[in-house]
Amino acid sequence: MLNLDMFRPVRGMKDLYGADLAKYNYIIQKAIKVSTKYGYKQINTPVVEYTEVFQRSIGSETDVVSKEMYTFIDKGGESITLRPEGTAGVIRAIVSENLTQKLPLKLMYYGEMFRYDRPQKGRYRQFRQLGFEHIGDKGPYVDALTIAMASEILNSIGSFDFKILVNTLGDEETRENYTKAIVKFFSRHENELSEESKARLKKNPLRILDSKDSGDKEICSMAPMITDYLSKESGKYFEEVCRLLNNFGLNYEIDSFLVRGLDYYSHVAFELKSTANNYKDSLGGGGRYDKLLNMFGGPDVSGVGFAFGIERLILTLENANFFGEPKKTAVIPVSDEENDDALNLLKLLHNCDINAEFICSGNLNKKMKIANKLDCELALIIGENERKDGTIMVKFMNSSADNPKSKSVNYNQIVQFVKNNLHS
Ligand code: HAM
Repeated sequence: MLNLDMFRPVRGMKDLYGADLAKYNYIIQKAIKVSTKYGYKQINTPVVEYTEVFQRSIGSETDVVSKEMYTFIDKGGESITLRPEGTAGVIRAIVSENLTQKLPLKLMYYGEMFRYDRPQKGRYRQFRQLGFEHIGDKGPYVDALTIAMASEILNSIGSFDFKILVNTLGDEETRENYTKAIVKFFSRHENELSEESKARLKKNPLRILDSKDSGDKEICSMAPMITDYLSKESGKYFEEVCRLLNNFGLNYEIDSFLVRGLDYYSHVAFELKSTANNYKDSLGGGGRYDKLLNMFGGPDVSGVGFAFGIERLILTLENANFFGEPKKTAVIPVSDEENDDALNLLKLLHNCDINAEFICSGNLNKKMKIANKLDCELALIIGENERKDGTIMVKFMNSSADNPKSKSVNYNQIVQFVKNNLHS
């Protein structure tokens, strides 16, 4: 018996086409436009990497590595992983492609990422990210400019409210002192922690702060804050970033518990969240990483970056009723005799940036049905009479079947007529 379930997309993954695909492309184009202004160039790395690339950089105790990676042994016996994020692959590429000669680099990428997470609205097993990495420059102005660019990208794609949350994870000295403080704190609450957090207390205590367990979350809300353990240098660095963000006029909040779910961050970490519908998941996030390049055998230089989840941006825009279907026209020859004239009209409309489809299969009745299916707002019909008179018969597709509205329009006036009557 055929198992038809096997012919659906895998759980948490979806086919993309039509208007949905257009939304992706729209967002990507906007992001390319803004990031190009800031000097970013595109990079495209493979969707699979050796497992070690992610394990070492993201950290084996993180949720992403310990629970969510699609890892398998290939036919050559190598352990490979579908990328759960883009930063590790980009940094690996900078080293293996010898791009370190060209530092500082500003690179942007977009594409599919894979995490074996519990699928729900805004959380998928295959999703798309738009990512940005600025490598080889360190200074508060670089961090602040990166956050400013993230904010500018959101403003460029549509009009919706979002908030910027920032924190610092300080330098190594900061994290050592802070780790000691939270180990002391969580040890006092060890019996109340989830089994997973108990294990993390021994292996990577900072990751307890990412726990999704409600009991853990309650304990975490009472934990010491990293901002109280900042080394002098880290404190100064963070203050300067905040001063610059103020100078840029950016509205941000300091969230002292923001530690991000990946191990590679130091100093500034940030997330952008949509306030529409109290949407709880992040639209994007990132921060500075000091050790990544070195970890892959590159020089000891620092980077800063962030990534947006494209599906989450789309959901936010949809919540704000941003996307309307693009309005279009159908160009319909009554018979094959009028095909050439109809094609000329199509060309004229396209040259004037009007969306128009040429419909030429079947009789007139069938053509009108197709125009309806394609959601065309106007049908421009050319028959023998129209050819003789130099006119076009315009049908308003939204008028009811009992009351079809149509108008004969002079060919010379058709472009203006369509522009006036096609609602954008
Ligand atoms: P991340 O916070 O793990 O950071 O992911 C960035 C964004 O990807 C999230 O804010 C969210 O919008 C989206 N995302 C993550 N998981 C899912 C999912 N399961 N379904 C849908 N969207 C999701 C990173 O990945 C870092 N590489 C960002 C970065 C770049 N840091 C420095 N440079």
